[in-house]
Amino acid sequence: MEERMMHQVDETVARYGSTDEALVEILRDLSQQAGYLDRPTLAAVAKKLAVPESRVFSVASFYSMISVEPLGKHVIRMCQDAPCHVAGGRKIWETLEQALGIQFGQTTSDGQWTLMPTSCIGLCAVGPVMMIDDEVFGNLTPEKVNEILARYREQDGGAA
Ligand code: FES
Repeated sequence: MEERMMHQVDETVARYGSTDEALVEILRDLSQQAGYLDRPTLAAVAKKLAVPESRVFSVASFYSMISVEPLGKHVIRMCQDAPCHVAGGRKIWETLEQALGIQFGQTTSDGQWTLMPTSCIGLCAVGPVMMIDDEVFGNLTPEKVNEILARYREQDGGAA
């Protein structure tokens, strides 16, 4: 493993404490720092916390804010909880999959977009809601989604 990543693991575990309860926070923090968590990093966390590697991997795979694969340049997180769903979330979900040509949990082959589901982000009143990187978009309609994607593509110089 890269020495820099090993150092980040040491630092992050020291910050949250090497207890089983701190596992999610440690993985979330490391995933944010590195973009995603590869196998050697997960193994290093497991060793530090003295928990099985399989448990660390299953926790890392469960949470949408933690990634175990390289992510696209832009990460779209679409709320999948009930209030957003009844406000028209299904249609938005389909619009995103169609516009990007991928399914949720996937990254486009050009590495531009990753599509992920997320649970409630606390903005149910303006559902359906999605985040692109750190920016939040509410009251989504299929038209609005296509406009937003077009804006990002234009900013990125017309990338797919
Ligand atoms: S249910 Fe979607 S933001 Fe709360």
